[in-house]
Amino acid sequence: MMNTTSNNVVWHEHIVTPSDLEALHQHKGLTIWFTGLSASGKSTLANALAAELHQRKVSTFVLDGDNIRHGLNKDLGFSPKDREENIRRIGEVAKLFTAAGIVNMTAFISPYASDRLMARNLQPERFAEVFCDASLDVCEQRDPKGMYKKARAGLIKQFTGLDAPYEPPPNPEIHLRTDRQSIDECIKIVIDWLEEHGIISSLPQQRKEMAMAL
Ligand code: ADX
Repeated sequence: MMNTTSNNVVWHEHIVTPSDLEALHQHKGLTIWFTGLSASGKSTLANALAAELHQRKVSTFVLDGDNIRHGLNKDLGFSPKDREENIRRIGEVAKLFTAAGIVNMTAFISPYASDRLMARNLQPERFAEVFCDASLDVCEQRDPKGMYKKARAGLIKQFTGLDAPYEPPPNPEIHLRTDRQSIDECIKIVIDWLEEHGIISSLPQQRKEMAMAL
């Protein structure tokens, strides 16, 4: 599969341009790449952020590790090579969502810095890395799916944080302490970043426009 050649494939330009999509959506497309240990809050935050943005009429989509591994990536396991392929595919899918003008959140452990860099390099101008930083102790205490317990019992091998590594991002766009900050605090930090970087318009401005329209 990896040897497939694309020599005879020609790239088609889209008639609907990125700026057409931006004008339609009234915001930019962006990949918000959540990374962190299992149970560090990636999916919870990605979904809470999507809900908040949806309220603000922002088009969103969440790509979630556990869900994607039931479909697109169900052929992949947790060896370093498979995790790399997992992130490569998701990086490409996320790029498509960005091209469609959508604010997309990915919630994958993505433990290797080189894999995250590969995903970033696919769309360097439209990629924000969010580090969900919670200690292994806290994640293990939370253990919502009982995975750490199973891994400690030897039922799951190569479990991230135990017998497989997690490489923290040295320079994420956003660093959340998900073991200390509340969900609301974390969401506010991300929303502020999106406003400051011109991805979405700020709420006061929207409110002003709504008030003027009345
Ligand atoms: S990643 O490392 O390739 O980015 P991904 O985010 O897709 O991982 O999947 C992580 C989820 O798979 C975890 O939340 C956990 O529920 C489950 N899982 C099963 N086996 C493992 C493992 N060996 N290491 C980490 N997570 C695992």
